[in-house]
Amino acid sequence: MKTIVVYYSRKGSNSYLAGRISSTLSCEIEKIRPRLNAFMLFLMGIHLGIKPLKNEIKDYDRVILCGPIWVGRFIAPLRSFVKKYKKQIKELVFVTCCGSTFDKKNEKFGHGLVFNKVRKILNGKLVHCEAFPIDLVLSEDKKDDEAAFMETHLNDSNFTGEILERFNEFIQKLNRFN
Ligand SMILES: Cc1cc2nc3c(=O)[nH]c(=O)nc-3n(C[C@H](O)[C@H](O)[C@H](O)COP(=O)(O)O)c2cc1C
Repeated sequence: MKTIVVYYSRKGSNSYLAGRISSTLSCEIEKIRPRLNAFMLFLMGIHLGIKPLKNEIKDYDRVILCGPIWVGRFIAPLRSFVKKYKKQIKELVFVTCCGSTFDKKNEKFGHGLVFNKVRKILNGKLVHCEAFPIDLVLSEDKKDDEAAFMETHLNDSNFTGEILERFNEFIQKLNRFN
């Protein structure tokens, strides 16, 4: 199955996650480049569009879209990608390294609600969603520490233990979809 990972990241965690997926699957990867990288506008949900991708999305059987969640939104750069390429996307998997934990996924800013939004936009093209909450790499004493949540980013030294196990299970799931 010809797969491409397409991602957006501001602080690096989703860039790291996207890179791990692409190197594990040995597939193409490309970063979404907004026309204007204006974080405040993104937070308000304002789309200014993205630059064309270098790869042809229509040539891929599966797109793995990876990016953060902000204020309970399917963020503007990711939305712009879907809007621009929806017709060319055959199937899409959405992956996020986010702040919301599994137990809060259905609360106001939770990833579960964002997954529902993505499902609605993609209709039948969304085949799977997966979250890697950042608390998976925090030690027990830091799990309720807001500053630690914001300051921690995925990297080779913390991508171990539970998050790595979940990542390996996610890769197995992807292989089963083939
Ligand atoms: C302004 C702001 C708002 C955020 N809002 C949410 C949210 O509503 N839900 C959530 O799960 N995570 C939220 N987060 C956490 C980010 O999704 C998380 O830090 C993510 O890993 C950042 O990805 P990046 O390092 O690739 O930029 C928020 C982060 C910021 C900076």
